[in-house]
Amino acid sequence: MKGTKNVSKNHVAMYITGGIAVYKTAQLARLFIKAGFEVRVAMTSAAQKFVNPKTFEVLTNHHVYNDFQATEELEFVPHIALADWTDMAIVVPATANVIAKMSNGLADDFVSTALLATKAQKFVIPAMNENMWQQVVTQRNVQALAEDGIKVMPPATGFLAEGYNGHGRMPEPDDIYQWIVAKNEQKQDLNGINVLITAGPTVEEIDPVRYLTNRSSGKMGYSLAQEAADRGANVTLISGPTKLAHPTNVTVIDIMSAKDLQQKVESKFAQNDFVIMAAAVSDFHVKTIADQKIKKNGKNLQLDLVANPDILAGLGRIKVHQRLVGFAAETQNLLENGNKKLKEKNLDMLVLNDVSRSDIGFNSSENEVRLLQPEKEPKLLKKNTKENIANEILDQLLIL
Ligand SMILES: Cc1cc2nc3c(=O)[nH]c(=O)nc-3n(C[C@H](O)[C@H](O)[C@H](O)COP(=O)(O)O)c2cc1C
Repeated sequence: MKGTKNVSKNHVAMYITGGIAVYKTAQLARLFIKAGFEVRVAMTSAAQKFVNPKTFEVLTNHHVYNDFQATEELEFVPHIALADWTDMAIVVPATANVIAKMSNGLADDFVSTALLATKAQKFVIPAMNENMWQQVVTQRNVQALAEDGIKVMPPATGFLAEGYNGHGRMPEPDDIYQWIVAKNEQKQDLNGINVLITAGPTVEEIDPVRYLTNRSSGKMGYSLAQEAADRGANVTLISGPTKLAHPTNVTVIDIMSAKDLQQKVESKFAQNDFVIMAAAVSDFHVKTIADQKIKKNGKNLQLDLVANPDILAGLGRIKVHQRLVGFAAETQNLLENGNKKLKEKNLDMLVLNDVSRSDIGFNSSENEVRLLQPEKEPKLLKKNTKENIANEILDQLLIL
């Protein structure tokens, strides 16, 4: 396990609310205890219907805070005592209900009252059914938390308790632990910097039901957006369709075609400082989009494909103060082709992906890239998570 505790700040309060993922939080408590943190637990009434507080009492060697304890058994004002004791407050799993309460400052039980009373850094780990997560009101509440400086971990995609795959699942305890430790140590060195990022594939329509697209998952661009926002930047993400949850505290603009993307990027370009073009933009569009579904007639069909403009090169021509970053996917002569693009498109950095490898890049959670910059030796960023690669790219941009 990579993260280690900061000895002066080792008080972790876990606020456990009533989601099906409560059973995983015992493991998370153990990870913090093993790493040397002192852990205390508060549970909502709903959470206690999923797991008996005894589990946490034994693990933490401390009573569990809840609504029903007689005050005389505890500290004089227990919610304030826990609030003041805490260095890190972790809401896990965070129900849609507690997120709604926190974003509105409600305090109608022990957990929400102590959360309102604490000055400690708060971390929220949402876990819920996909439809609950995607509700506009939930997304609005999550955004409000992020704007209030609360760190919200994007939920994972996978098998939900409802018996199907979906978005909203609580990440595994080890991933939550690593994320919290990393966020807790995160610098705010992009404060006040405006960052524009493009991500995901583009979609070029053929007829009302068919289209051309590519395999980009959007993960690299989304990681860049989330990490930049967490480091204090004002981030706008222009995204083609992806299966990913929107990053928190980021303005997201959805697009479909390369033309849409070009319009949105060009309208935002002037007011941004870092412009990172991570989207996999289609090189072609169909000359004439059919109004009606094209019928088969037993014969072959030829599509007339027209080249799309090179949006990145266009930005390179008009850039003033911006630090402009391109991504390139190559399968051969990586450095030669990369350096050519860097120069021809007037970029400040080119992030070079070797897409001949299946273990990294498109659709994978990890990446290994080379950063090319004018007048500098190429920098290899060895295989790592896309979050860590994103942070390295941002570090390099800052010192340009
Ligand atoms: C079996 C079951 C599973 C539930 N799982 C979740 C969940 O994963 N996420 C969620 O937000 N709410 C879930 N709920 C709904 C919450 O328990 C309910 O909104 C409750 O009022 C939350 O209270 P709390 O936020 O005070 O813990 C579930 C309810 C039931 C009965």
